[in-house]
Amino acid sequence: MNETLERWSTRRAFILAVTGAAVGLGNIWRFPYITGENGGAAFLLLYVAFVLLLGLPVMMAEILIGRAGRRSPMQSLGHLAGQAGASRHWRLLGLFGAFTVFCILSFYSVVSGWSIEFLVAAVNGDFVGRSAAEIGAGFDAFLADPGRMTFNHTLFLVMTMLVVAAGVAKGLEKLNNLLMPMLYLLLLVLAGYAATTEGFGPALAWLFLPDLTAVTPMVMLQAMGHAFFTLAVGACALMAYGAYMPDHQSLPRAAVSVAVLDVTVALLAGIAIFSVVFAQGMDPGEGPGLMFVTLPVAFAELPGGPLWLSLFFLLLLLATWTSSINLAEPMVATLQGWGLRRGAAAAVVGLAVWGLGMLSVLSFSSLAETRVLFGMNPFELVSTIPPEIFLPLGGLLIAIFAAWVMPEETTLRALDAGPNGFRAWRALVRWVSIPLTLVVLLAGLI
Ligand code: PHE
Ligand code: NA
Repeated sequence: MNETLERWSTRRAFILAVTGAAVGLGNIWRFPYITGENGGAAFLLLYVAFVLLLGLPVMMAEILIGRAGRRSPMQSLGHLAGQAGASRHWRLLGLFGAFTVFCILSFYSVVSGWSIEFLVAAVNGDFVGRSAAEIGAGFDAFLADPGRMTFNHTLFLVMTMLVVAAGVAKGLEKLNNLLMPMLYLLLLVLAGYAATTEGFGPALAWLFLPDLTAVTPMVMLQAMGHAFFTLAVGACALMAYGAYMPDHQSLPRAAVSVAVLDVTVALLAGIAIFSVVFAQGMDPGEGPGLMFVTLPVAFAELPGGPLWLSLFFLLLLLATWTSSINLAEPMVATLQGWGLRRGAAAAVVGLAVWGLGMLSVLSFSSLAETRVLFGMNPFELVSTIPPEIFLPLGGLLIAIFAAWVMPEETTLRALDAGPNGFRAWRALVRWVSIPLTLVVLLAGLI
């Protein structure tokens, strides 16, 4: 009896942790804004296809490596490579993952800081009676103020690293998943409200009627990157969580339930946001500020607006908090593997991420015109290249490792989906996910 109870709770804990990592800014902030920049439905279609063909199977690959290795990502990769008689250099993949999340967390923390600013503003009722243009101008003024941006970025990172250092992430994930249904419900209400506005029809048409002539290799690359980003796949961050996945739990089933939740959160957010965009005659390609300008406008029209808006930003902050904890994990685990204590590792990671994040903070004021590489300023660079190139590249190597390098019985056991499930998964990874990722990466790069 006791044993069943404990297993149930750990199975649940695993799903909670992965959902916490998956649902975050990627769904509510990044998905709408890059869909907006890429013309809508065709991008959405590609993104959903990539989630199914790449994101999901590679997510299973990544988690099963952690589950089979039962160690930190670098150690698991090295250990399993050794077992298979392959090069131990596979461990370096863990290091590459740590570098990827280093870049991602640096801008993730800055944008999460925007949510803190907007939460405070919503609680103060600052948006009441203000037009979309006024809210947009207020947002721009905030971006141009490095002092306020730095404060929020610092606060968010301290919040993240404290949880990481104390090792209480599981507690936070429980809280997160207790409150996640509320976030979901709020998005449902918003999408329901959106259905009553005149922007709803155009938003649906724009999101769901694809114009396939708009598809370029660059669009495909971005859609693929976002499929990895939103599922938290490709940086060995989920590998770390796989290490504590219980023995008897079907990995495909767990992964599918996380992905369904993740995609529906993004769709609800997209419907709500683009209805406002079209109702207010705004530009869908507005960029990173899209969500921060449209949602206050939408909530302002609802009865009890300031209250709902405050609740929304609070829940969003909670969702981004659990994602950022997952983002920090590969770096902290790597430093721990090199002999640092957890607290010290968290402090080192926090400081380094803070420093890199400051370049993103300043990208909205003094560094706005500083083109570091490919004509992009620091924020544009770290919010583009790591999600769009590093994650698919990491995912590709993870997939190759799980489907070609690892001993077959080890993989079969770690996937826990029976021999037929295993064969189907491996065929999909070998003949679809790996070649497709490679082709899209190469086409996009050229
Ligand atoms: N999946 C998270 C989101 O959508 C971001 C993330 C990426 C988290 C990579 C962990 C690893 O917000
Ligand atoms: Na996500």
